[in-house]
Amino acid sequence: MTWNAKDIVSPGAQQPTKNLPKTGAEAQNVLAAKGGSVYKEQGNPDRDGKDPFPVDMSVEIAGVSLKNPVVTCSGTFGAGQEYSEFFDLSLLGAVTAKGIADVAWPGNPTPRVAEVTSGMLNAIGLQNPGVEEFLKRDLPFLKNAGCAVFVNVVGHEPKEYYRVVERLNGVEGIDLLEINISCPNVKAGGLVLGTDPHTVEEVTRGCKMRASQPVMMKLTPNVTDIRAIARACEAGGADAISLINTLTGMKIDIERQTFALANRTGGMSGPCVKPVAVRLVYEAAQAVKLPIVGMGGISCWEDAVEFMLAGASAVSVGTANFGNPYVTLEIIDGLRKYCRRHRIGHVRELTGAVRP
Ligand SMILES: Cc1cc2nc3c(=O)[nH]c(=O)nc-3n(C[C@H](O)[C@H](O)[C@H](O)COP(=O)(O)O)c2cc1C
Repeated sequence: MTWNAKDIVSPGAQQPTKNLPKTGAEAQNVLAAKGGSVYKEQGNPDRDGKDPFPVDMSVEIAGVSLKNPVVTCSGTFGAGQEYSEFFDLSLLGAVTAKGIADVAWPGNPTPRVAEVTSGMLNAIGLQNPGVEEFLKRDLPFLKNAGCAVFVNVVGHEPKEYYRVVERLNGVEGIDLLEINISCPNVKAGGLVLGTDPHTVEEVTRGCKMRASQPVMMKLTPNVTDIRAIARACEAGGADAISLINTLTGMKIDIERQTFALANRTGGMSGPCVKPVAVRLVYEAAQAVKLPIVGMGGISCWEDAVEFMLAGASAVSVGTANFGNPYVTLEIIDGLRKYCRRHRIGHVRELTGAVRP
């Protein structure tokens, strides 16, 4: 099975590529017409030019300008093509591509996704076409999407990460490299690298040496002390950090009396992980000065505000895209309105506003 966004977004929400929604409200009209949920918005004053209190939604992550702080999570948005059938991707702050290795990876045996209360488990195993195919097939589309492009890098061991980084170094259309040292679903690398501060520092330094683009290290929540890992990234020269990747979990199929996933364990994501993620973002923000892209269970604008108040400079939306392909647009609208209501002129003022 290929993990393809087309197969997992709500089938009823499919619509033609013309006249795509420009705001969360327009997106919700499309959904409502198809019997979906309704998000109420009275026009878009920023766009209509009638706004008595304009909000500057732009943010910067490691020198990369984003028109707003809403990004998509790696592995939940493909390389954007499927979602571009629902809305114009230039409305997003950035798209993060699925993890890319030096060569193609086949991924894990099926079943490799399972539903849990308020979330899901996945053990895709970082199936990907390899860096050359990504550059040929996906990047030409992504670099014309009109938003910033983050590329997620995976490997089993440091030299595999370095090969990908060397290949992506200086490639036009890639604004930032996100280094996934945190995937729980591969036998070596990923999570193993990401739990040891010395290795994290070494891999960060190795990627930094080879990349012209800013380097953002993606952290796992499956550690005892996130502050030590965040500090190791900073010591290795990282430009930013992102967190959280998925939490390791397990589900037993009680009728078959065996594991729900062929891999036995999987990465848990969705609303069920959010309180853990907010706590970890807060702790990391106290430990380092690096900009943080916060993620883990974000499914509405209130969640995005929470992550920013905890210390995130931008937020990334993952599992929620599967149930509602327009969720990112709704979050952008909701964030803008929240700022307007609280008389906050620049969305970045939210970052870290909740102090110890
Ligand atoms: C199906 C699936 C595939 C994923 N693939 C990747 C990946 O390739 N690289 C990565 O760094 N994270 C990957 N993740 C983790 C997400 O990017 C994100 O960190 C995590 O799901 C938490 O956010 P969420 O609760 O909003 O989904 C994946 C998550 C899911 C659900």
